[in-house]
Amino acid sequence: MKIDDQWAEARVEATRDLSATVREFTLRPAAGVAPWNVGSHLRVRLSADGQDLLRSYSLVGLPQDSVRDGVYRIAVKRVDPSRGGSRCMWRLSAGAVLRIAGPDNHFELPLAAPFTLLVAGGIGITPMLGMALTLARRGTPVRMLYAARSPDELVYADRLRAALGDRLATFTDAEGTRIDLDAEIAALPAGAQMLVCGPAPLLQGAQSAWQRADRPTTALRFETFGSGGLKGAEPFWVQVGGQKDGRMAARIEVPADRSLLQVLAEHGIDTMSDCERGECGLCVVDVLALEGEIDHRDVFFSAEEKCANRRLCACVSRVRGGGVVVDTGYRPDPN
Ligand code: FES
Repeated sequence: MKIDDQWAEARVEATRDLSATVREFTLRPAAGVAPWNVGSHLRVRLSADGQDLLRSYSLVGLPQDSVRDGVYRIAVKRVDPSRGGSRCMWRLSAGAVLRIAGPDNHFELPLAAPFTLLVAGGIGITPMLGMALTLARRGTPVRMLYAARSPDELVYADRLRAALGDRLATFTDAEGTRIDLDAEIAALPAGAQMLVCGPAPLLQGAQSAWQRADRPTTALRFETFGSGGLKGAEPFWVQVGGQKDGRMAARIEVPADRSLLQVLAEHGIDTMSDCERGECGLCVVDVLALEGEIDHRDVFFSAEEKCANRRLCACVSRVRGGGVVVDTGYRPDPN
């Protein structure tokens, strides 16, 4: 069950390939653009193979440009294998009509910090572009670290370089350059904040480095896109226990390209969700038994909680080498 279902129509006005794997979509909402601030995202309702899919995409660029032009811009990475969202988005061309909700913001940029370090990995650049441009325009001290697999995947780098100059540092796997988070954090002045958006390994590394430096947790903010884990996705089974009569439901297969949350919903097992990116914790289920290992892909649980394997985020986390018995808290109506 998805909370908040305020959906409106938006038309795809244009698409633009920023790289071989990242496409920007310009969306013109029928009801006009609502005011938003950097870090905001849109929720998009898609349909693939008869399934309803809900995805969140960060708004790209500056809010004032969006409002002036009457459009939202999002950028979507083509993911292989896709859980459905990116495949669906990449099929859309100009003229297509989407259902959207929002914008909402769970990743606000505090403007009072004396210094801001922005860290973006891959498609995690999407909310960070507007943040970097905003801070640069305000003359607020900022440094940005931007990592991608290859130089051509550093989308929006030209725009960032024009705004930030040598305050932008880029890193690519292809060139063998990596962000040294410990050194970057050590160089920050007191009171600095760090905002991070990227895949789970980058976020986990940033959280650990921030803790090692004994920096205040309130000065670290992050957002993920919840699709990538440390290991590849593989199918696993799930069984829903915890029924009032002690019965156990039949095992259900979770394919490699579907999330546990999607599969539970498809089988009529209602589970709360919101972000679907492993951040909010609304989709958490209890683990009653486990075969294999849990690939925790969320940033909601602490490292200790992940080690304990007592709960998992159904929207992003998976099992490798077997399956899991969960209690969703869902109790079907006996009538
Ligand atoms: S829906 Fe937010 S963590 Fe799963």
